[in-house]
Amino acid sequence: MARTSDIEKAAGVLRGGGLVALPTETVYGLGADAENPAAVSRIFQVKGRPPSHPLIVHIGGAEHLDDWVQEVPETARLLAGAFWPGPLTLVLRRGARVPLEATGGLETVAVRVPDHPVALALLSAFGGGVTAPSANRFGSVSPTTADHVRAELGDAVDFVLDGGTCEVGVESTIVDVTGDVPSILRPGGVTREDLEAVLGHPLAVPSTSAVRVPGQHPSHYAPRARVVLVEPEEVVAEARLARERGHRVGVFLPPALAGTTVEAHAVVAVPASTAAYARGLYGFLRELDRQECDLIVASLPAEEGLGLAIANRLRRAAGPRPTA
Ligand code: TXA
Ligand code: MG
Repeated sequence: MARTSDIEKAAGVLRGGGLVALPTETVYGLGADAENPAAVSRIFQVKGRPPSHPLIVHIGGAEHLDDWVQEVPETARLLAGAFWPGPLTLVLRRGARVPLEATGGLETVAVRVPDHPVALALLSAFGGGVTAPSANRFGSVSPTTADHVRAELGDAVDFVLDGGTCEVGVESTIVDVTGDVPSILRPGGVTREDLEAVLGHPLAVPSTSAVRVPGQHPSHYAPRARVVLVEPEEVVAEARLARERGHRVGVFLPPALAGTTVEAHAVVAVPASTAAYARGLYGFLRELDRQECDLIVASLPAEEGLGLAIANRLRRAAGPRPTA
């Protein structure tokens, strides 16, 4: 775990234009001084991320929000008051302080207050905002431990702050509050139901079509192994078939099938609680990669509560891979 001296050191690295991997309650972030365009640009190089993909600015408290955006609509105040610090990102109109490098050229900016003592200590010691995408290479699985970050980014990061395993395990929920009605851009750690309870009205969710075959979801959050999604009752048969075809198969065994024998190289027993599933999800995918599975058979959880974010990540992991 990070000590006070580590926090000071990390704040110094940020002031010097360097990159710090920091723990948050969702996943580890790859952080830079949000107001230093050169440092922000380095994030894109290290991640291999196209510069048009905007980043999230992390701030130390809701009271700093006005410093980073042009205006704070009432809905944003309401949501920030209810969920910050926490796994909620708000998209607002970009304030002059935010360089276009951080927003991918957009006139809007994504902002959140992470709910992790190490992240909050760093933001307080540093004093400014920290832009941070998830600390993984573009398109791959987000890191939920400091070891994941070291394994994936190594020396490309100037300093890694260790804050243990991330509690939530999937990224923040992103809500656009620039329009007349708020909309969810990415499901995540704050559930749709919790947002709707605070807002007092239903929210539209991005179309995650009921079609379970790879298709319209370009791969992201993806392990090396190919991910195949089937109905829960088809998991065992699908795994057997894939094995017969010569695959080294990893299986996400749904909670309803707990204890069932399945022919596979590696089996992950999916936790019955969606909170535990979300916390473990990226670690499970990494573990099946570590065991050199080339195909993962999984099914989607019910798309309610945290299940919505889990299903979104699994669909994206199963999406078509770039062929180049
Ligand atoms: O939980 C999280 O959100 C983690 C931790 C580190 O805070 N961060 C994270 O960052 O997931 P990243 O870069 O992997 O995902 C940020 C998402 C991207 O999908 C990006 O398109 C969206 O936020 N985003 C950022 N700024 C935006 C904007 N101005 N308008 C719309 N979407 C935006
Ligand atoms: Mg990411």
